[in-house]
Amino acid sequence: MKVQNICCIGAGYVGGPTMAVIAKKCPDIKVTVVDINEARIAAWNDENVENIPVYEPGLPQVVAEARGRNLFFSTDVDKAIDEAQMIFISVNTPTKTYGEGKGQAADLKWIELCARQIARVAKEKKIVVEKSTLPVRTASALKDILEHTGNGINFQILSNPEFLAEGTAVEDLMAPDRVLIGGDQSEEGLSAINSLVEVYARWVPRERILTTNVWSSELSKLTANAFLAQRVSSINSLSELCEHTEADVNEVSRAIGTDSRIGPKFLKASVGFGGSCFQKDILNLVYISRSYGLDEVADYWEQVIIMNDHQKKRFAKKIIKNLYNTVSGKKIAFLGWAFKKDTNDTRESAAIYVADHLLNEQSKVSVFDPKVTEQQIYSDLDYLGSRSSEENKESLTVVKDPYKVCNGAHAIAVLTEWDEFKTYDWQKIYDNMLKPAHVFDGRNIMDKKALQNIGFQVHSIGSADDN
Ligand code: UDX
Ligand code: UDX
Ligand code: ADP
Repeated sequence: MKVQNICCIGAGYVGGPTMAVIAKKCPDIKVTVVDINEARIAAWNDENVENIPVYEPGLPQVVAEARGRNLFFSTDVDKAIDEAQMIFISVNTPTKTYGEGKGQAADLKWIELCARQIARVAKEKKIVVEKSTLPVRTASALKDILEHTGNGINFQILSNPEFLAEGTAVEDLMAPDRVLIGGDQSEEGLSAINSLVEVYARWVPRERILTTNVWSSELSKLTANAFLAQRVSSINSLSELCEHTEADVNEVSRAIGTDSRIGPKFLKASVGFGGSCFQKDILNLVYISRSYGLDEVADYWEQVIIMNDHQKKRFAKKIIKNLYNTVSGKKIAFLGWAFKKDTNDTRESAAIYVADHLLNEQSKVSVFDPKVTEQQIYSDLDYLGSRSSEENKESLTVVKDPYKVCNGAHAIAVLTEWDEFKTYDWQKIYDNMLKPAHVFDGRNIMDKKALQNIGFQVHSIGSADDN
């Protein structure tokens, strides 16, 4: 089947950029992105393309080119489903916060709602594509719902996990390392796979389009994220050892990264990984393994999360220790709140947990992030439920100016690796802080020697203090 009309349910960090790039690369395919969140759709349709709800370098240009031509954003979910031959499901699949599997299993509530809606509306055969990261075997649940509640038509389910990283989404989508498409190995299944291959083949070299069965595709997505996260936890575990010895974690990373079997990427020690995927996907892997009674497998992967939690806590404790074991009433300035640079996404950001720890010690935290809104920062903190919303507002302030945020602070903590932090006038910042003035560099981006020359006490991840 030649696809002429695509619908994507979910206009978030994955659905929005992915569909914008498909629309750009396939001007003859009509792509409609739908969402139940009216404000989000309104923002995608904002006249000023810089106001789209997802901050990604290069994305406004892609949206500007395709929007209104063959890319549409709408809240009319039924109409888009009805018109499309291929429907991508790109809704959120957070970790369950209640009931069986709480804190580990993925909450598939939103996926199921989508499936039921598709089943109700669809009158002719459709290809349904899982784009959201899902636990292995979700496709069979989807198929079950579609076939038992639908209008008796044929559905083919494909798994086409997205590997884009936030902050580089447009580059990743334009030139992916690979595209993975899993489907049923029957004749109809293979034909559905082929329909999707033909969409990507407009711009992705065919040898980079891998096809597998559904289960391999679903599991590969979880595995890729688990491996990447494991590398970060591995180097972070060694960062602690480095701080107690005379080794420097940056030197260790460089030394091991040159081994072609190991490779240089994802070896940057940090305050801990965040983002919507790593933790959720590993927890999924752990939950599934345990459900099959594979405790050793589950324990192995769970350790990656344990190490990450430890790294975040350790960073907060280091701040407290160096401020004479008390931060009560002291102002600590945060540079960065996003989970990494070049995104306004804050899901599972280390900054949230470090702030929570410091607030428990009665510190006054003030935050500057170039892209994250004040409302988002408070909502992240309130979500933890550690204290009331009023108390959070009293103890944490959000400041729009990087110099003002540091005024009168005892310490600065760098939580996100935004490039602009390196270019600030650090002498000016130093002059307006309380002394001794500390910098806790959770991303190892600052020029340690230069800051020390100004007079700062600098504490890095993965090397001993030498102030
Ligand atoms: C290793 C390191 O590779 C080398 O750099 C170091 O100097 C010494 O230790 P070696 O023990 O000789 O070298 O062999 P290696 O090829 O690393 O294999 C080690 C073990 O891992 C073998 O039993 C091998 O069969 C196994 N292995 C390796 C796997 O099971 N799967 C793999 O993908 C790779
Ligand atoms: C990740 C995967 O990279 C992507 O393929 C998948 O589709 C979604 O999940 P993302 O979460 O957007 O992408 O960002 P990523 O660049 O992987 O970073 C995740 C976290 O790890 C960030 O908090 C980042 O700061 C941290 N990280 C990454 C490190 O601390 N050190 C590193 O060396 C790399
Ligand atoms: P991701 O990072 O996976 O893209 P987001 O949370 O950014 O996750 O986006 C998911 C989007 O899916 C949200 O905008 C949410 O409103 C939307 N959504 C969830 N359930 C449905 C549904 N049943 N129909 C339409 N949109 C939905």
